[in-house]
Amino acid sequence: MIREILKMGDPRLLEVAKPVTDVHDPAVKSIVTDMYDTLHDAKAFGLAAPQIGIDLRILIFGIAPTRYHPEQEPVPLTALINPWIDILTEETDHGPESCLSVPGMRGLVPRFTRIRYGGTLEDGGQVEREADGFHARLFQHEYDHLDGILYPQRIADITKFGFTEALLPRAEWAKHASE
Ligand code: NI
Repeated sequence: MIREILKMGDPRLLEVAKPVTDVHDPAVKSIVTDMYDTLHDAKAFGLAAPQIGIDLRILIFGIAPTRYHPEQEPVPLTALINPWIDILTEETDHGPESCLSVPGMRGLVPRFTRIRYGGTLEDGGQVEREADGFHARLFQHEYDHLDGILYPQRIADITKFGFTEALLPRAEWAKHASE
């Protein structure tokens, strides 16, 4: 079922989400299914459970090959329960981000360029991956949602936050776009 996506300003987006205690609980499967439906409908790269008002540490994300990321390896659509993250470098990179909870806006956000992450899959198995580039950026964005952090809070230079069409000419975004 497609769920309503909470918008920035809703206090539920600012809470630290709770760990899932039983990954085999049918309610968890139902939440993940709703998240897939909602993400597919929104045509975005990722979604975190708090964005649909669920106070649990669940996120989904994936990168299909697109014209905006010719250099990025595709990432299979993945649901992670109780995910974790390790930062593998102090190096950061500023790149454009958008968020379903902040519609119509974009901003340049610093993120670590190389990470390792993992978590529990829907079937109870564990996964662990290393990521860089847009893959690492996307994971950090989604993981932040579980800690109640929206990307505008990460923007170092607030003049680099604005309406999608106004912030940079369309041709510039086409080079960097991460939506
Ligand atoms: Ni987001």
